[in-house]
Amino acid sequence: VFAPVILAGGSGTRFWPRSRRARAKQVLALEGTRTMIQDTLDRLRLVAEPSATWVITNGWLREVIVEQLPEVTGEHVVSEPCARNTAPACALAAFLLERTAPETVLGVFPSDHVVANPKRFAEVLAKGIEIAAAGENIVVLGVPPTRPETGYGYIEQGALYERVEQTKGFAPISVHRVRRFREKPDLTTAERFLAAGNFVWNGGIFLWSAKTLCAAIREYTPEMAEPLEKIAAAYGTPEFEKIFAAEYPKCENISVDYAVLERRSARGEQKANIFCLPADFGWNDLGSWASLYEHRAEREGDNVIDGGTTGVFAIQATGNYVYAPGKTVALLGVDDLVVVETDDALLITTLGRSQDVSKLVRAIHEGG
Ligand code: GDD
Ligand code: MG
Repeated sequence: VFAPVILAGGSGTRFWPRSRRARAKQVLALEGTRTMIQDTLDRLRLVAEPSATWVITNGWLREVIVEQLPEVTGEHVVSEPCARNTAPACALAAFLLERTAPETVLGVFPSDHVVANPKRFAEVLAKGIEIAAAGENIVVLGVPPTRPETGYGYIEQGALYERVEQTKGFAPISVHRVRRFREKPDLTTAERFLAAGNFVWNGGIFLWSAKTLCAAIREYTPEMAEPLEKIAAAYGTPEFEKIFAAEYPKCENISVDYAVLERRSARGEQKANIFCLPADFGWNDLGSWASLYEHRAEREGDNVIDGGTTGVFAIQATGNYVYAPGKTVALLGVDDLVVVETDDALLITTLGRSQDVSKLVRAIHEGG
């Protein structure tokens, strides 16, 4: 059995002012008409029933997610009483399932990625599920790196484990053992990784059986296992909400990359049993206005004008991203700008500074 777990509790503040607490980027349609979480569910349809899918989110987003994903069972949309990062969120699903179906393979999926080729995504995933079901294995997906990005985790690939020929014209899937996992290195280290040639980016998608993840949590973060066991035991009882609210905050605020992957990979290539499959399906982490611009500019050309504008005039203006629904947009002699207008806010920055929008949002909150 395979159960996707969609993580949708992030705040996505780098997409301010479109992204707000109650409409974070995962529930926005940053391209096309489906929202990012709807796209996530749609591509998972190829490997799993929507009814088998879980969503771990927060109180601000739960209602809109239930509305956007009518096929996902309401009881499977869990709203955390507080954000504790991805380790407790992943582990919560594992502890809930371990009680009734410990062999279930869980797939962890971010709710805010773009996948250009969903068919290839499904092929790779099917192979990954098979490996995760076969033992105490962890499967990660690796993206060929194109720059020394410090916002990602890096996977050092070890020996080739298996090469699976594909039919239907798809490229073979090469499965490698993982030698070492390194979450968010500094720039010098990331540059060294890129030069070494055998490093790939962590795609943020993980596969493991419920019992494998629970065992890892018990081993590496035992103080997190205790509250999660209590929460899982109360699931479906009238006390659940109360116990959830009291116990969940006791979990350490840590990402699954640091809590599980780095530590497990320290066992060494042969003993860690972490396997890396290629995320060669047009993976894109839309992390900022700049990455949205790049993604869209490939098809739409130099200035990306978004949101349903009524007319565009550009003279000696290049590389701009503008979101201004219902407006005529006129650009004159400006380059590399980001301009985003919503009902109550206006953002003006440059593509180069768009990673810092989250800092700006923090300053806005602190300023009242
Ligand atoms: N439920 C819940 N609760 N979800 C969360 C929480 C939380 O507290 N925090 C984050 N998420 C969700 C986000 O909405 C997103 O879908 C996913 O978990 C990943 O979290 P991010 O905050 O976006 O992680 P990251 O981008 O810093 O790093 C991860 O993703 C990279 C690739 O996109 C890591 O796995 C990196 O190693 C990886 O390279
Ligand atoms: Mg991210």
